[in-house]
Amino acid sequence: MDIEIFSDYDALSERLADEILSYMSDPSGKLICLPAGDTPRRAYQILSAALSRRKGSPLPCTLIGLDEWVGMDKDTPGSCQYVMHEWLYKPASIRDEQIVEFNARNPDLTGECKKMDRFIAEHGPIDLAVLGIGINGHLGLNEPGTSFRQTSHVVDLTETTKRTAQKYFPEKVALEKGITLGLKHFLEAGRLILIASGKQKAKVIKRIIREDVSEQIPATIAKIHRNSTLLIDQDAASEL
Ligand code: PGA
Repeated sequence: MDIEIFSDYDALSERLADEILSYMSDPSGKLICLPAGDTPRRAYQILSAALSRRKGSPLPCTLIGLDEWVGMDKDTPGSCQYVMHEWLYKPASIRDEQIVEFNARNPDLTGECKKMDRFIAEHGPIDLAVLGIGINGHLGLNEPGTSFRQTSHVVDLTETTKRTAQKYFPEKVALEKGITLGLKHFLEAGRLILIASGKQKAKVIKRIIREDVSEQIPATIAKIHRNSTLLIDQDAASEL
């Protein structure tokens, strides 16, 4: 795992936007998984600005949705899909047929997981997976203790995630379960980028770097991935 430390959030975001853009515009048509959450927000603004200036044929990439809170969809303000559509897909003119995501309102969530796993088996592996790191070390909604062999699954959210995720919503919401791609998908991705910004991530970044690879810290899978980079700003690196 390479580690790149940036002077600030803007510099990290520029670097991230650059690499995502090169995958999105690759003529071979890459399969790309990008996260919701606050960390990539600036990179998505940079990307959207760049893509809105772009002329010519539509981007050849496919965007695969990382995760969602069960019971929500892209019309729920604050949901993962809402964030992706509002911050990136709409401003960057990504068309619906380029987007593959869970239907977290489907009563048959197991069927949703199977469908996603089948899609990845047929069209994957994912070429680029970008993932935010939770303060408990989770990736997507793969909470601590999740097997590295796990594919798409439905998750009972930890108290930490339920509490921390309130920041995304305009009002307090009841969060109990999530649906997410699995750690196996990230391990098998051609390229893995983990991102973290801010002092609130400093403790978990120190643990990821200093501690052994363990299912108790899902983000440590980056240390056994063959082509992974951790992008952090000075604040997130402040306990190293
Ligand atoms: P954040 O979320 O980018 O909002 O910090 C990361 C996560 O908890 O997955």
